[in-house]
Amino acid sequence: MITVSIIKADIGGYVGHSSSHPACLKLAGSMLSKSKILIDYHVTACGDDLELIMTHNKGEDSKEIHGLAWKVFVECTKLAKKLKLYGAGQDLLKDTFSGNVKGMGPGYAEMTIEERESEPILIFMADKCAPGAWNYPLYKIFADPFNTAGLIIDTEMHDGFTFEVLDVKEDKTILLRCPEHIYDLLVLIGNPSRYVVKSVYRNKDGLIAARSTTTRLSLIAGKYVGKDDPALIIRAQKGMPAVGEVMEGFSFPHLTEGWMRGSHNGPLMPVGLKDSHPTRFDGPPRVICLGFQLANGRLIGPRDMFDDVSFDEVRRQANIAADYMRRHGPFEPHRLGPEEMEYTTLPKILNEMKDKFVSEQGARRNTYKEMRKELEQKVLKKHE
Ligand code: F6R
Ligand code: MG
Ligand code: MG
Repeated sequence: MITVSIIKADIGGYVGHSSSHPACLKLAGSMLSKSKILIDYHVTACGDDLELIMTHNKGEDSKEIHGLAWKVFVECTKLAKKLKLYGAGQDLLKDTFSGNVKGMGPGYAEMTIEERESEPILIFMADKCAPGAWNYPLYKIFADPFNTAGLIIDTEMHDGFTFEVLDVKEDKTILLRCPEHIYDLLVLIGNPSRYVVKSVYRNKDGLIAARSTTTRLSLIAGKYVGKDDPALIIRAQKGMPAVGEVMEGFSFPHLTEGWMRGSHNGPLMPVGLKDSHPTRFDGPPRVICLGFQLANGRLIGPRDMFDDVSFDEVRRQANIAADYMRRHGPFEPHRLGPEEMEYTTLPKILNEMKDKFVSEQGARRNTYKEMRKELEQKVLKKHE
C-alpha cells in the first residue's frame, strides 16, 4: 500500500498574498530530498501556498510525515521572516507540533491505495478560495453523466460513486450513494460554505477515488481554521473517470467563496503554473492541477494539466465573470452574506455602529425636530 499525501500551508507571501518566493520552494525541496521516510516528493506553490506532495509507506495521519511537513513549514517560515515576506508563518497557528497537523493551520489530504497496474493521479490545488470550491467539480466528475461519459458507458463506473460530505459546523459526516441520492447530495453540497465533499468512493468495490483537504477544518477559538485554499487528490482512468473527464469538471468557472479578504464570491479560474499568482483584487481564485503517473510510489511527472489551450475560453469566461462580479463592489452577492462574514473582522465594525441605530419612529422624530429648529432659526433671522 502506498499513501499519497499533500500537506500545504501559507508560510509567507511574495509580494503581499500573491505568490511564493522561489527560495522557500528550494529550501522545502532540499529538506524533503534529505528525508529517509519518503518514497518520492514534489514541491510546488499555488499563489501564496507552499504545497508538499509526498508518497510514502507510513499511512494516513502519520506522525512522522506530518512532523516532517511541519518542520519544513517552520524552517520556510524562518526564511520567510528573514526575507520579510508578507504574513510569514500565516498558517502555523501553534508553536509546538503534537503528532498531527489537524487544526494546526496547514491543510492536508491523504489517500492510501494499492497502486494499480498504471495509476494516473491528478492533484488540484487552489488559492483564494474555500474547500467548498471542490463541490461543484466533484459532482460533475463523479455524478453527472453529461460530464463523465464513463458513468454511462464503463461497466466499472456504471454503479456510480458514494460521496462523503462533511458538515463543517457540526463536524459530522454523511455518506450519500449516487445516483440514488443525487438530490439529497445536492441539497447539501449546493451550500458549499457549510457542506464540503471530503471523499468519493467507487460503489462497485469501495475503492477510494478522491480525497480533499477538508480534514483540516476545525473550529478553533471561534474561528474556522484553514478555511482557505484547498487541495484535492483524484485517481483517474481504468474504471475511474478518465483524465479528460476529471479535467472537464473544471470547464465552467463556477463562483466560489474567497478572493479579496476571503470575503467575496468569484469565479474559479483554471490556470497553468505560470499563471497561478492572483493579483487582481487578490484574485480571481485560481486552481492548478499537476498530473503524475505513480510507479511503485515514485511520482512520474508532473504534467501541468491546465496549461492547455482548450481551457483558454474557460479563463476568458472567468475574466468576464470577474468583471461582472467586481462591478458590485461591496454589495452582496459579490461580498459574502452575513453568515460567512461572521468569521471576518466585519462584526467588530458592525458592533461599533450598534449604538448609533435608533428606531424608525425615533429617527423620524429626530429629523422632524431638527427641521423645525432649522426653520425656526430661519424665521427668526427674517424678523431680525
Ligand atoms: C485572501 C487573502 C488576501 C488578504 C488581503 C488583506 O485569502 O489572503 O486577500 O485578505 O490581501 O490582507 P492583510 O489584512 O494581511 O493586509
Ligand atoms: Mg497569504
Ligand atoms: Mg493562499
